[in-house]
Amino acid sequence: MKLIFEKSVPGRRCAILPACDVPKVELPAELKREAAPMLPEMSEVDVSRHYTELNQHVHGVNCGFYPLGSCTMKYNPRIDEEMASLPGFAAVHPLAPKAAVEGCAEVIETAKKYLCEITGMADMTFQPAAGAHGEFTGVLLIKQYHDSRNDKARTKIIVPDSAHGTNPATAAMCGYQVVNIPSAPDGCVDLDALKAVLGPDTAGLMLTNPNTVGIFDENILEITRLVHEAGGLCYYDGANLNAVMGVVRPGDMGFDCVHLNLHKTFATPHGGGGPGAGAVGCKSFLAPFLPHSALMEEPGHIQVRGFRGNFLVVVRALAYLLTLGREGVPEAAQNAVLNANYLMQRIKGTFTPAFDRICMHEFVLDLSEFKKATGVSALDVAKSLIACIPPRCTSPSSSTRPSCWSPRRRRARRRWIGRRRCSAPCTSWAIRTPRSCTPRPTTPRSAGPTR
Ligand SMILES: Cc1ncc(COP(=O)(O)O)c(C=O)c1O
Repeated sequence: MKLIFEKSVPGRRCAILPACDVPKVELPAELKREAAPMLPEMSEVDVSRHYTELNQHVHGVNCGFYPLGSCTMKYNPRIDEEMASLPGFAAVHPLAPKAAVEGCAEVIETAKKYLCEITGMADMTFQPAAGAHGEFTGVLLIKQYHDSRNDKARTKIIVPDSAHGTNPATAAMCGYQVVNIPSAPDGCVDLDALKAVLGPDTAGLMLTNPNTVGIFDENILEITRLVHEAGGLCYYDGANLNAVMGVVRPGDMGFDCVHLNLHKTFATPHGGGGPGAGAVGCKSFLAPFLPHSALMEEPGHIQVRGFRGNFLVVVRALAYLLTLGREGVPEAAQNAVLNANYLMQRIKGTFTPAFDRICMHEFVLDLSEFKKATGVSALDVAKSLIACIPPRCTSPSSSTRPSCWSPRRRRARRRWIGRRRCSAPCTSWAIRTPRSCTPRPTTPRSAGPTR
């Protein structure tokens, strides 16, 4: 597409002004510019066509799905955008007096109520601006809890190697020593390795579930039990809650705090780096440490971001929840899992799944044999798919882990984790699947434990 300046033709004009009917006034010479401004000279219809053409280059849900490879792709219903663009939400001033923003406060309270119910948590903040920021906030809750008990010996956070890369980075940023533990051959946490590192210095464990190879950890109850037994707390990376929402709850599985990527699971398009919200939920004993909005003016609370965070992301999340309803939430999760498994089975004859078992919302393929046979690498395949989906090529799985990280990533990871050498070229890639939202009745769940 040409720039508007390239379309300019000297002498063309958009408007023909009416003849001047007042006396002409000459500006003083010092106020006059020396050269004419370099504005494009175009006819009105050309200007209109130019901007209409530009408009057609903007990607949106009406043109296609959001092709985001590193986060969960999904269908973000148009109505959620419409709710977020209502002037009463979009134009609200962050310093508006409380009485003028009661509707916004109600949005936050209602979203909190539903998301706490979905996660099995007692309280929640929407301040963090994204998933990694939510993790940072959540691990600070753990830190504050131990500090409040004067338990200074707890200096380590355990992070399985199937965790999202932000987990070890978060723990390190919060001042903890990161203890990396390997996965067992089935892709789940190796329980013996976990037991070996647990001790009085354990502050907590961060678990990404489903993990980055798309597997729901079968030993999850045992994992949280062991960590609690050692006096640590359990953090659930729920960025990809769309695989389990409404079906199981982190709170019921023994987790003490969780973050959700509202910009992935709950209807804010995230591709290209839009605004996010890393909502952090926690059990009641951690709630006193939650950051609160400056508006609430409560003493003693930390604040991790101005005001209440990216409010419009919360509006979209609430609109999404209200549209799906109690039955639609688990239905969307079930569809995400069904879609991923369908795709895995279809692809199986051509590429090899790294874990040939039921996956959750995503799966990882091992392309090492394919590369040997054809010379075509995972990166080549991923690049060839970019027009329809950009798959992730950096998955840590026991069969592909050492082979898929770039030297820079390997060096960075070694700095965080202090372990493991990697040498082979990229050989694996992961696919996450969209979900749909057709409602279907499900059975109600029981309430979660209070811890
Ligand atoms: C499992 C998991 N945790 C954390 C994050 C980090 O979220 P964000 O990119 O919003 O910081 C992601 C993002 O893809 C993720 O998939």
